[in-house]
Amino acid sequence: MLRFILIGSAVMVLKLRTYICSSAHQERLEKQCSSLTAIVTSVFHGPPQRQLHHALIPHGKGGRSSVSGVVATVFGATGFLGRYVVNHLGRMGSQVMVPYRCDTYDTMHLRPMGDLGQIIFLEWNGRNKDSIRRAVEHSNVVINLVGREWETKNFDFEDVFVKIPLAIAQVSKEAGVEKFIHVSHLNADIKSSSRYLRNKAVGEKEVRNAFPEATIIKPADIFGREDRFLNHFANIRSFGGVPLISLGKKTVKQPVYVVDVSKGIINAIKDPSARGKTFVFVGPNRYVLFDLVQYVYAVAHRPFLPYPLPHFAYRLVARLFEMSPFEPWTTRDKVERVHITDMTLPHLPGLEDLGIQATPLELKAIEVLRRHRTYRWLSSEVEDVKPAKTVNV
Ligand SMILES: NC(=O)c1ccc[n+]([C@@H]2O[C@H](COP(=O)([O-])OP(=O)(O)OC[C@H]3O[C@@H](n4cnc5c(N)ncnc54)[C@H](OP(=O)(O)O)[C@@H]3O)[C@@H](O)[C@H]2O)c1
Repeated sequence: MLRFILIGSAVMVLKLRTYICSSAHQERLEKQCSSLTAIVTSVFHGPPQRQLHHALIPHGKGGRSSVSGVVATVFGATGFLGRYVVNHLGRMGSQVMVPYRCDTYDTMHLRPMGDLGQIIFLEWNGRNKDSIRRAVEHSNVVINLVGREWETKNFDFEDVFVKIPLAIAQVSKEAGVEKFIHVSHLNADIKSSSRYLRNKAVGEKEVRNAFPEATIIKPADIFGREDRFLNHFANIRSFGGVPLISLGKKTVKQPVYVVDVSKGIINAIKDPSARGKTFVFVGPNRYVLFDLVQYVYAVAHRPFLPYPLPHFAYRLVARLFEMSPFEPWTTRDKVERVHITDMTLPHLPGLEDLGIQATPLELKAIEVLRRHRTYRWLSSEVEDVKPAKTVNV
């Protein structure tokens, strides 16, 4: 009898312990879930009708194998700035959708930029809203980097800078995307002599109307290894010198480093106060174009042979280059843009407001220009080169 009572009470104790353990475990799990949800909703104030996907719950140490909570679609990821943005997103453990229209071979460099399966490629067409919808429907962040330096017979500047950004902004709004980043241009102006910059100004307005909380970034000319700024000036030497309107003495430029622009975009995603704002991304120094190009040639250890070319003559030459079926060396519109002085917009927030200190051109120019040196000068020190003169206008 005593044996039966003992066995019975032992079984009861065991059952009670299992019950207490499981309820404590459940409570712990519930607590963890609710705190994770709280973190996510504090970072992304998304519309309540969207279900929380596990890829949006941040966890891990912040490296590429962690989960940042960002699922971003990057339009224009195959371009110059795109590779830096995708790289930053991948390195912090984000899932990145890369809509592309080129050969898959041309997206190869982006594949290792994130953890296994975190960089997802899909074909798209800027004129097909369904393809845009497919690209953004699982994302909480959309970044528009679509751009082109010259017009083609299929896409003019209005298509690239107004119609496509507008379509992306509209579809993103409909899909309930939380953050929209649109990259415009510092000199975007409806009255500009450049068609590119006029369309950029219209694009900014249209995006703002379609997605009022969009963050608009206005970078100056961007320099970096694959740029079309310092490389352009260094390459002009094959035309027997450097043609510049008024010798470039009437133009002032404030170029910005590509890594700073990319970091600024990432910080704008992380910073909830960036919603609905327009940021200006410029470098720390302003240079007269003549001095800047002279510095480019000094770093590249090439003879600097500038010559003044009248505006009409330069445009005529550029018109001939526009006939090229490949990337034109220059265009009439590029001639205008190169000779437009960079605006100063002190009323708008900048890189510092996103916690970034702009990198001086002198520190990074060698990254771009070493390839333009002859072997004789390949490893010579940059410190030997006199820094370019800066101006305050
Ligand atoms: N680079 C600068 O100095 C600078 C300065 C200020 C502002 N921005 C702006 O920043 C953004 C990114 O510049 P970026 O230098 O990285 O440009 P980029 O190297 O020319 O790359 C542009 C991207 O847009 C895509 N694209 C162009 N036309 C398209 C079309 N019709 N349909 C679909 N995709 C198209 C390209 O795809 P494909 O590879 O398939 O052609 C590429 O991925 C642009 O909006 C640009 O205007 C650039």
